[in-house]
Amino acid sequence: MVKKKTCVFISGKGSNLKNLINCSRDKNFPIKISLVICNNKNAYGISYVKKYQIPYVFIDTNQKNYENKILYNLMKYKISFICLAGYMKIISKKIVNTYKKKIINVHPSLLPKFKGLNTFTRILENKEKKTGCTVHYVNNKLDDGEIIVKKIFFLEKNDNEKTLKKKTQILEYRAFPEAIIKVFRNC
Ligand code: GAR
Repeated sequence: MVKKKTCVFISGKGSNLKNLINCSRDKNFPIKISLVICNNKNAYGISYVKKYQIPYVFIDTNQKNYENKILYNLMKYKISFICLAGYMKIISKKIVNTYKKKIINVHPSLLPKFKGLNTFTRILENKEKKTGCTVHYVNNKLDDGEIIVKKIFFLEKNDNEKTLKKKTQILEYRAFPEAIIKVFRNC
């Protein structure tokens, strides 16, 4: 199997990146992580990149033309698939259009509910009975593209933002790889 050259975008802890690195070491997993792009110099996720010697580029999203720098690197590393794993910046139209149906994102809610930021606060305020995570294709609207995989759990009385995040991320570690396998199942 020829693995798809994939770039993972991160901004922080990188636990989904770590999980995807582990999955991609399996010869039957459809992607190889050929590049990581990060927009936060202090992101803990960078430690995984260093540990596994994955090419890595820091992008300063406050700089003009930073999108061109991203595109340049995606071309340089011949990237054909992109995973957004906790990348807290909206991807520009130019990149979305260049990689149509080739960018997926993991979001910590049951989309279309609770798009955007501060998801867990809003879930608690809204007294939701269930929540979970969603992996979806990225289009030009925020957290909006076609859904690939959703995973659900029911809230418990004592849940707070911390417990919700933990429970959601445990599901993300299954949902993201499953979504990638689903995307490439018929390729
Ligand atoms: C993940 O839980 C992901 O769902 C969320 O950021 C976290 C990153 O964790 N993404 C978003 O909120 C995007 N809107 P990680 O850095 O440990 O993988």
